[in-house]
Amino acid sequence: MDLLEPHPQGAVLRTSIMKTDSPIAVELVEATKIFRTKKTFFGRSGEQVTALDRVSFSIRQGEIFGLVGESGSGKTTAGRLIVKLDEPDSGKVLVDGVNLSEIRGHKMKRFRRRIQMIFQDPYQSLNPYLSVYQTVCEPVVIHRLAAPQKRLETVVSALSQVGLTPPEDYLFRYPHQLSGGQRQRVAIARSTVLNPEIIVADEPTSMLDASISIQIFNILVRLKQNLNATFLFITHSLAAALYLCDRIAVIRKGKIVEMGPAKAIIRKPEHPYTRELIRSQPRFRKKTEQRGSFRPWENGATSS
Ligand SMILES: Nc1ncnc2c1ncn2[C@@H]1O[C@H](COP(=O)(O)OP(=O)(O)O)[C@@H](O)[C@H]1O
Ligand SMILES: [Mg+2]
Repeated sequence: MDLLEPHPQGAVLRTSIMKTDSPIAVELVEATKIFRTKKTFFGRSGEQVTALDRVSFSIRQGEIFGLVGESGSGKTTAGRLIVKLDEPDSGKVLVDGVNLSEIRGHKMKRFRRRIQMIFQDPYQSLNPYLSVYQTVCEPVVIHRLAAPQKRLETVVSALSQVGLTPPEDYLFRYPHQLSGGQRQRVAIARSTVLNPEIIVADEPTSMLDASISIQIFNILVRLKQNLNATFLFITHSLAAALYLCDRIAVIRKGKIVEMGPAKAIIRKPEHPYTRELIRSQPRFRKKTEQRGSFRPWENGATSS
């Protein structure tokens, strides 16, 4: 059952009456991010892009929250604010109630361990000169998670958790010797070996084939359960969001237009833009109407 609430920016906001008891892990309060492009060689003045315009949402502990929107809508920018790769120009980003602008110095290292981001492109996010063992072991060494004699065991366990089995076959391979799906699994193992509390997954399957994407989704769901982590899942695909997420926010041009339980929004969108987004994924619409079910791997969940 949903409750309809007014939203300051006219967005349709639906709050689920379920799951409201767990504490809030991540919160954006009126977060705004403006990028200023540099002056061009010909002297044309720099332009401003408002990537996020007073965006507010909160994610409860243990929840998978989806941020859904077209390319350029501000999804990655929101993810980067949460992991503190960028700072908002105004507004706040809170993790467990702590404003991220206050986290500096020695507190930063602990913060980096607790919050991890999985990037869209596993070809760019892995260092080509490090073997799989070195890649996954690096954060273990930096954060002193295991005694030297336990490191191999820790890496092997992380690799099996992402389905790279037998792990021994992968330890001494380099990124160029792996498929796209295998690389993304290594990137996920590198993030999750730290037992993070919060994971931002930024379109983690958009560079991968459809059948591989569903395997990666299932790994993420399993990891979420094992780690009891909080997830921000960024995607352009409503079907993928419905498959994975408890609640979603639909974002357009830096503004949230609709937010609430994934099922309620996708089955009964209130905002015209959400309806348009659903219509633009025609196979998804047809399938959900015909069978009352969905198959993310059949409807563009994998392309960007
Ligand atoms: N570092 C940057 N410099 C200038 N503009 C940027 C930068 N990062 C993002 N943008 C702009 O901000 C907007 C939102 O980008 P982004 O958050 O990457 O969107 P999405 O992830 O939804 O595709 C886009 O118009 C993009 O061009
Ligand atoms: Mg992006």
